[in-house]
Amino acid sequence: MPKSTTLYQCSECGYESAKWAGKCEQCGAWNSFVEQEKTAVLPGKKMIVSGSKKTLSPISEKSALQNTRLLSGIGELDRVLGGGLLPDSLVLLTGDPGIGKSTLTLQWALATSWKFPQEKIMMVSGEESVAQISERAHRLGKVPGNLFLLSEFFLENILSTVAHEHPKMLILDSVQTIASGEIPSAPGSVGQVRMVTEQVMHFIKQHQIPTVLIGHVTKSGEMAGPQALAHLVDTVLYLEGDRYHEFRLLRSTKNRFGSVFEVGVFEMTETGLTEVQNPSAAFLSGRLQNAIGSIIFPTIEGTRPFLVELQTLTTVTHFGYPKRTATGVDINRLNLIAAILQKHTSIKLENYDIFANIIGGFRVAEPALDLPLALSLASSKLQKPLPENLIAMGELGLSGEIRSVAQLEKRIKEAEKLGFGIAVLAEAQLKSVKTKMEIISARTIGEALQKLFS
Ligand code: TYD
Ligand code: MG
Repeated sequence: MPKSTTLYQCSECGYESAKWAGKCEQCGAWNSFVEQEKTAVLPGKKMIVSGSKKTLSPISEKSALQNTRLLSGIGELDRVLGGGLLPDSLVLLTGDPGIGKSTLTLQWALATSWKFPQEKIMMVSGEESVAQISERAHRLGKVPGNLFLLSEFFLENILSTVAHEHPKMLILDSVQTIASGEIPSAPGSVGQVRMVTEQVMHFIKQHQIPTVLIGHVTKSGEMAGPQALAHLVDTVLYLEGDRYHEFRLLRSTKNRFGSVFEVGVFEMTETGLTEVQNPSAAFLSGRLQNAIGSIIFPTIEGTRPFLVELQTLTTVTHFGYPKRTATGVDINRLNLIAAILQKHTSIKLENYDIFANIIGGFRVAEPALDLPLALSLASSKLQKPLPENLIAMGELGLSGEIRSVAQLEKRIKEAEKLGFGIAVLAEAQLKSVKTKMEIISARTIGEALQKLFS
């Protein structure tokens, strides 16, 4: 027989304790312990199963759901979702505060309302008033009559309204501001955030209402953040970008119904987020001609190539240690490349401050950026511009060797499409490229510098 014991759990961080305490040992919250029943099966005892027998479904039968995806008509969004929303899926849309989650979902709701004029689309906000959202909606475009708002934070009220209205699509903004009356902790605490997500998931599976749940990324409490919810939902979308730059990338970090490698590119404008059809051209606009230290790198985001501009600046250090500053580039990688140049080439940067930046607030994490980074540093140090129509890609080894990159063909094609004429890459990959572009291949960074700068 299962043995029943009492257990106390912190409603803020989820910490469990056998004894009640006034203050949580783990997160330091006061008066946060609530009593929980804990059942454990004693070893050696026969377990009594009391459930009823259910019918099995053969997996070979294709489900009817596959054909009923809800397309919003916002191409970048539908693509990231793997071809629209499924009728009973729960999508968690996360991102930093102020990045544009409410804006994106409002546009999503508007687009869906226009597509399904006979159906209700429902948005619930625990953050903003109906007047605020409606004002924003009117600024974004014409508002159809079938888009409804509810300003409410009490989960039970929300779900009964939704059950009554049965909308075609539901948006909940945000998981941190909605609270269930079933547990005593405050909105936004780990207990509430989990409870709300679980209840919503359960509810929409039953009622077949595709739902988008917004969740802020919380800097301090990762525990109460969307990380803790990822396993509870079907799809996790992450909207990222630099608040001070206009580009926004929408990625899926989990998708039960599609690929997680797709990236949607948007631009924040006066009239909300607009799709960027040709990201490479957008990232390159405004580039100076013959700029020293500037180079184009074809990066791959998931399965999609993008051309981004990398710039570096090297200046003599006047005081103390040389300073290294990187935006969009990993600072450790920058230090490593500077060290490789120092050791294996004539580009000595030990007494130079280095600044590296990827234009447009874009971040690149792949090692294929090594070679362009090295070439850009050399260009800056030597005060010689690289050819304007040149791209480069390659990982650098510690001995200064240039290594192959993945998905070379896609990178080359994208560059070719935008009119680039020269590609610098590892000699090992020379045979695997088919292109009209001029190829400069090298075994080492030293050899590459010789071919480009002498
Ligand atoms: P918002 O969607 O409220 O962010 P989140 O819900 O992720 O916290 O977006 C807020 C920012 O977007 C705000 O700084 C203003 C900007 N914005 C525009 O630039 N254009 C617009 O049309 C809208 C609606 C917002
Ligand atoms: Mg918001």
